[in-house]
Amino acid sequence: MKIAIGNDHVGVELKQHLVDYLSAKGHEIVNFGTDTAASTDYPIYAERVSRAVVSGECDRGILICGTGLGISISANKVHGVRCAVCSEPVSAELARQHNDANVIAMGARIIGPVMAEAIVDVFLDTEFQAGRHQRRVDMIMKLDRGESVQ
Ligand code: RB5
Repeated sequence: MKIAIGNDHVGVELKQHLVDYLSAKGHEIVNFGTDTAASTDYPIYAERVSRAVVSGECDRGILICGTGLGISISANKVHGVRCAVCSEPVSAELARQHNDANVIAMGARIIGPVMAEAIVDVFLDTEFQAGRHQRRVDMIMKLDRGESVQ
């Protein structure tokens, strides 16, 4: 799978860990994140990863900041992105099965590298279940286009 990964200064170490981990598993990783500890702004990386996924350049996106919150909020402002913050694999599995999440966000101040491995494994290996969930995802995308679902 071709995966876009992005991070701010807080996520450099965890990003590098995941790049090594996922590359060893045969994935192609495109690094859109910062690689230094110099303070920077997470929306920059959220946008880069989001656009790579929405354009089809990459199949999925992985984002890392301190909490996963700011970078996920930013990603969800980009049309076409469904980004879920996950701190354990069950949420990552359901984000794929029910929400068809195309981007995942994690907090480098919240979880460790082994938990992050388990989360990304499930995120990349789980299929969207469609069915009744398709209707709800279609409604999410209506909101994304500025339309009402009432
Ligand atoms: C940076 O200090 C921090 O605010 C950022 O990494 C993230 O946690 C924001 O949501």
